[in-house]
Amino acid sequence: MLELDMVSAGYGAVVAVRDITMRIDQGEFVALIGSNGAGKSTILRAISGLIRPMQGSIRFEGKRINGMAPHHIVRAGIAHVPEGRHVFPDLSVAENLEMGGFIWRREPAQFRAALDLVYSVFPKLAQRRTQLAGTLSGGEQQMLAIGRALMTRPRLLLLDEPSLGLAPKIVLEMFSLFARLHRTTGLTILLVEQLAALTLEYTQRGYVLERGEIRLADSSAALRANPRVQQIYLGA
Ligand SMILES: Nc1ncnc2c1ncn2[C@@H]1O[C@H](COP(=O)(O)OP(=O)(O)O)[C@@H](O)[C@H]1O
Ligand SMILES: [Mg+2]
Repeated sequence: MLELDMVSAGYGAVVAVRDITMRIDQGEFVALIGSNGAGKSTILRAISGLIRPMQGSIRFEGKRINGMAPHHIVRAGIAHVPEGRHVFPDLSVAENLEMGGFIWRREPAQFRAALDLVYSVFPKLAQRRTQLAGTLSGGEQQMLAIGRALMTRPRLLLLDEPSLGLAPKIVLEMFSLFARLHRTTGLTILLVEQLAALTLEYTQRGYVLERGEIRLADSSAALRANPRVQQIYLGA
């Protein structure tokens, strides 16, 4: 479904990630783990078109997408939930979701289906649909940010450190929610996280990124058992 082939990307003349080769099949739940500054967000930005790769190719469902504008990549079926919870604090939950569903302004049936899905995955958002987003808890804002991305009815969801700044209990709830979303809808998910242990418990396969390069790629179970991963990322 998604294929990155020898992708290098960065900022200005600075190369942040080098020769990234990754492959995600339809329906997979895949982890991309690595320390702060490893280049995780840069890879997601390159996939969603926020930065243009310097080298290599990115294909989605067989079609080359690198060089395409971000809104075309959204239309192609990829949604990116960036780091930090960028909800519109002065708009209600429902209005935030409407903004996410802007691509359906001429297709009300699609909009309705997207909204039904989001409210079924996040019943709390349905309960709070008239509440201002700025008054939600951190976990609820993160759910809203994800719900807004789901409003585009993506086939591939990119999640950038959704656990950031959330209490451990909320993080657990969030991860079980991802697992349910993956199981019940078959949505393909690429989850970027620093929380390696938890992420490798929930995902099927993973990539370990170190200083801009993929160091390991394996099943999540094998990565959990890998001495290098245990030493550096699992605090063993
Ligand atoms: N907007 C930017 N301009 C310049 N350098 C950046 C920018 N964003 C990230 N970087 C650099 O790129 C590298 C990778 O960053 P990033 O992809 O954000 O890592 P991660 O998400 O794994 O923490 C870091 O060295 C970081 O300082
Ligand atoms: Mg990041």
